[in-house]
Amino acid sequence: MVLNQLEELTSRAFDELGKVTNLEELEAWRIRYLGRKSSLIQILRLLATLPLEDRRVAGARANEVKKTFEARLAEKKTSLELAATLSLQRESLDVTLPGERVLLGRLHPTTQILDEICHIFQDMGFQVVEGPEVEWEYYNFEALNMPADHPARDMFATLWIDFETEAGDRPMLLRTHTSPVQIRVMEKSPPPIRIIAPGRVYRYEATDATHEWMFYQVEGLAVDRNITLADLKGTLFEFARRLFGKERKCRFRCDYFPFVEPGVEVAIDCFVCGGAGCRLCGNSGWIEIIGAGMVHPEVLRRVDIDPEVYSGFAFGMGVERIPILRYGIDDIRLFYSNDVRFLRQF
Ligand code: DAH
Repeated sequence: MVLNQLEELTSRAFDELGKVTNLEELEAWRIRYLGRKSSLIQILRLLATLPLEDRRVAGARANEVKKTFEARLAEKKTSLELAATLSLQRESLDVTLPGERVLLGRLHPTTQILDEICHIFQDMGFQVVEGPEVEWEYYNFEALNMPADHPARDMFATLWIDFETEAGDRPMLLRTHTSPVQIRVMEKSPPPIRIIAPGRVYRYEATDATHEWMFYQVEGLAVDRNITLADLKGTLFEFARRLFGKERKCRFRCDYFPFVEPGVEVAIDCFVCGGAGCRLCGNSGWIEIIGAGMVHPEVLRRVDIDPEVYSGFAFGMGVERIPILRYGIDDIRLFYSNDVRFLRQF
């Protein structure tokens, strides 16, 4: 009877032990089968009440069972502990390994130079404004003194946009320069005006090392009473010295733009050869950087500013040209082809 109980107990205990997967479960198993309230201990206590012969046989067997339980418990404990260490090792990480490298972004060379240009003019009291890149023909050409049949329109290879309004034909385009922003500003605000307008411009152009179909310009405009060509010269000379170094010389020569009279082209003496002539300046000693002039009276009249009372100067420059000159970049297409190996250098 007792022997039967012991056999049953043993097989149940082994069964359950096989299912134990961690040390907590093992402790529960120990309490269940070897604890003070376990069946085995109760059986051992019960032995005293048995007749002597039965007591010897059952007692021996019960003690055997207890020993096996204890042995199996110790065995299981060792193997569980080993497994725990192994899995800890597997999950461990080497805190001395170097971390993953974080890639830092940086400002695009165009953004950097735009910031620099804007700061210089802001220091001189100019306000930064922006205009639309999709523009009416009126602002891009007409209001800038270039009526439909004006030959100067040929200077600007234009990307036209198909667009019909209810009012009929009102041609649209991608602005070919930032000069239309001048008109938009003068339409809205009376003089005194001092603004610069940075932004993208577009040309219908086959791209090569020196031509892009999209690039940046900065436009400038100052309108007030008594503004003269001397103001234009002083402002742009100061700008050139701040951007390219205070030892720079400036050269102003006549040029033609329909929206100014007189028109000038501004050059600085070559900062590589100092004017002696080199590859950068094409041996001339001078580098042209800005188109400018006194705002044409016709342009002022169109925006209802009386040219008898007010005068102004305007200028425009290409932005990429400056880093191209500074760093000797030999292909303008590098700017917007998004090759980080190029962009990271600045
Ligand atoms: N808009 C001209 C261009 O894209 C540059 C320019 C020349 C702007 C003379 C001006 C200016 O404001 O007065 O070639």
